[in-house]
Amino acid sequence: MPVRPRVDLETLPDYVAGRTVPGAIKLSSNETPDGPLPSVARAIVDAVTNLNRYPDPTVGKLAARLADKMGLPPGQVAVGCGSVSLCHQLMHAMCAPGDDVVFAWRSFETYPIATGIACANPIKVPLDETHTHDLDAMAAAITPRTRVIIVCNPNNPTATANRRAELDAFLDKVPSDVLVVLDEAYREFVSDPEVPDGLDYVRTRDNVAVLRTFSKAYGLAGLRVGYFAGPKQIADALRKVYVPFSVNALAQTAAMASLDAEDELLARCETIAAERDRVRGELIAAGYEVPDSQANFVWLPLGDKAFEFSEHTLANKVVVRAFQPDGVRVTISHPEENDLFLHAARSYRRSS
Ligand SMILES: Cc1ncc(COP(=O)(O)O)c(C=O)c1O
Repeated sequence: MPVRPRVDLETLPDYVAGRTVPGAIKLSSNETPDGPLPSVARAIVDAVTNLNRYPDPTVGKLAARLADKMGLPPGQVAVGCGSVSLCHQLMHAMCAPGDDVVFAWRSFETYPIATGIACANPIKVPLDETHTHDLDAMAAAITPRTRVIIVCNPNNPTATANRRAELDAFLDKVPSDVLVVLDEAYREFVSDPEVPDGLDYVRTRDNVAVLRTFSKAYGLAGLRVGYFAGPKQIADALRKVYVPFSVNALAQTAAMASLDAEDELLARCETIAAERDRVRGELIAAGYEVPDSQANFVWLPLGDKAFEFSEHTLANKVVVRAFQPDGVRVTISHPEENDLFLHAARSYRRSS
């Protein structure tokens, strides 16, 4: 008999990344359109001379800097090779085989994969009719087997966000031994003041954690660095299941330099958020349903027309992300690129 991997892996979906098509505009991966700031690029180049050395395995300087910025003890912060990696670490650290992980669906495609790899059960709770997390239904899905609940706020791919009052009420219902993870990969694009900063919950509740990333607002998707803030015992466990040295030296340096340049990077996010609102308005004017977006992308709930729509925009040299049979996610870029997308969206509408 030939060697073989775990049989259950065959049932897990592959992670599908947004397509890159040479010669077409890429609006398929929720990346920011601008590269690192010159100061960040210089720091990366300077760090290249030390690449014969291993990176700091504890990611200590960056973790301490982040903890200081968030007003948390350093022990409550764990840095990882992107928040995708932290999500996998969390499942390994929290779940034994057969435990339940509750999350909304449709949401970020890593959740069922990370859950399945950890031999835990994914409990998918449908979004409500506004394409937002149905927090009442998620609370009702909790059983004695539930170890983790993930709330992606704003949600990828629908861009909708849950507000403070509903999150407060939800968290009050969650038993103290269940960890609620607020995945805030897009936090820096939120403009609704009623959408809470998850760190407020980390500071006041013992069973809430936040995941954040340098991939989006900070424009470092290619370097892979994200962080967890939450209960100390969970941060300790994440460090235990961390793959040693996986946050590489350039990522650590670039993240530190990005924190130095944070004001400039956050100003970029405001520009993207304003563009997002313009694009959404134009799409609604063209006759599309577009839920409110608090992220750097918009969602078109096109149902089983999702793939057809994405093929149409591709024919117009714009790559978007179809999630057949639910809808299409479109990343916000510079105005000229967004206008090309809008042109394609209007022509689809005329032709369908
Ligand atoms: C909700 C959400 N969380 C996490 C990530 C991954 O971030 P990272 O690049 O830090 O792994 C993404 C990326 O698309 C995302 O949409």
